[in-house]
Amino acid sequence: MGLQPFRRILVTGGAGFIGSHFVRLALEHDLEVVVLDKLTYAGSLLNLEGVLDHPRLHFLQGDIADPAAVAEAIAGCQAVVNFAAETHVDRSLLEPAAFVQTNVWGTMVLLEHALRTGVQRFLHVSTDEVYGEVLTGAAREIDPLHPRNPYAASKAAAEHFVFSYWTSYRLPVLVTRGCNTYGPYQHPEKFIPLAITNLLSGQPIPLYGDGLHERDWLYVDDHCRAIWTVLLHGQPGQAYNIGASQHRPNIAVARAIVHLLGADPASIVHVSDRPGHDRRYAVEWSKLAALGWAPRTSCEEGLARTIAWYRSRPDWWTARRDEAFAAYYARNYRDRGTPVTQP
Ligand code: NAD
Ligand code: DAU
Repeated sequence: MGLQPFRRILVTGGAGFIGSHFVRLALEHDLEVVVLDKLTYAGSLLNLEGVLDHPRLHFLQGDIADPAAVAEAIAGCQAVVNFAAETHVDRSLLEPAAFVQTNVWGTMVLLEHALRTGVQRFLHVSTDEVYGEVLTGAAREIDPLHPRNPYAASKAAAEHFVFSYWTSYRLPVLVTRGCNTYGPYQHPEKFIPLAITNLLSGQPIPLYGDGLHERDWLYVDDHCRAIWTVLLHGQPGQAYNIGASQHRPNIAVARAIVHLLGADPASIVHVSDRPGHDRRYAVEWSKLAALGWAPRTSCEEGLARTIAWYRSRPDWWTARRDEAFAAYYARNYRDRGTPVTQP
């Protein structure tokens, strides 16, 4: 991967799904890693099991929207990688304010401190959802942003602030726009882990609408390597799409999981659709490929690995699933007019 110019980096949201995998990757290099994480329902120190007591890892519990917490965490860092966010589209439809607070205001607080401390790189982890639905072809980095749900709108708003700090102050920012990511330690509110843990619990897979909505599925290790590549080799002021070229309609993903778990095909149950549900996401990622990155994990291989992990870790997912059911699934499905059964 070449030489790293950084001795100490701040990883916000490093106790979440992708962030925790990225922390492991960063620790393989000779770096001090500071993690700032609020430990919301989506974050957990368990996600950092095996590295939490690493001598080069420093964990701080705190909010990216809290200037004092950010000032403490960023001290001495040459780079920031901002994963911290509210990330679930269905929750954003129920409680959008939290998404503005963390994803927009929190990013602003980080930008201000990054500017004051003069970091060499500010990498903001964004999403392919900022383009809105892409019915044909694939979005390029120069395409306009058309976010269509509150989560995507908050991520697009954050991006505008990030780029404004490049234009206005020459803060060396980078933005990545990753596609749908999956793998171990993903919260069971998201489609793939929800489908796996539901089947493992004897529950059906709730498939929104006709199930023909299409996503591009990226294995988490590939996403982290892409962010690392952009951090080291990206051009400040630029956005980089991260795609996997593993497009699947949701029904195909559900059928693959049913097959791999040897479950009854009747366990896929159509439920009413997500409001404003984006039909398809797709990004063109040749700009990132030119930096030397390519995904390594096929959807079939990644799904098999992910299923094996969830099979072996009910201790990790059972409480999260129960908590999510109590806090949110019941409302989600009641609002959809579909039957609710306690897992
Ligand atoms: P996640 O929900 O698993 O983790 C988010 C983490 O951020 C948690 O540890 C949480 O505690 C922390 N956090 C939330 N609010 C915070 C705050 N105010 N201050 C500090 N920490 C806070 O998310 P994820 O799926 O790992 O996504 C990480 C990033 O990648 C997000 O910015 C998301 O928008 C982006 N992204 C995710 C995907 C995907 O498919 N999961 C794809 C593309 C981009
Ligand atoms: O595209 C990147 C984005 O991918 C990230 O920025 C988001 O943080 C991440 O949550 C994800 O958003 P999606 O809305 O695409 O992911 P989710 O796992 O919620 O849903 C994937 C697809 O599956 C989507 O078309 C909705 C559908 N779905 C989801 C759930 C939770 C179902 O059919 N049933 C479900 O129960």
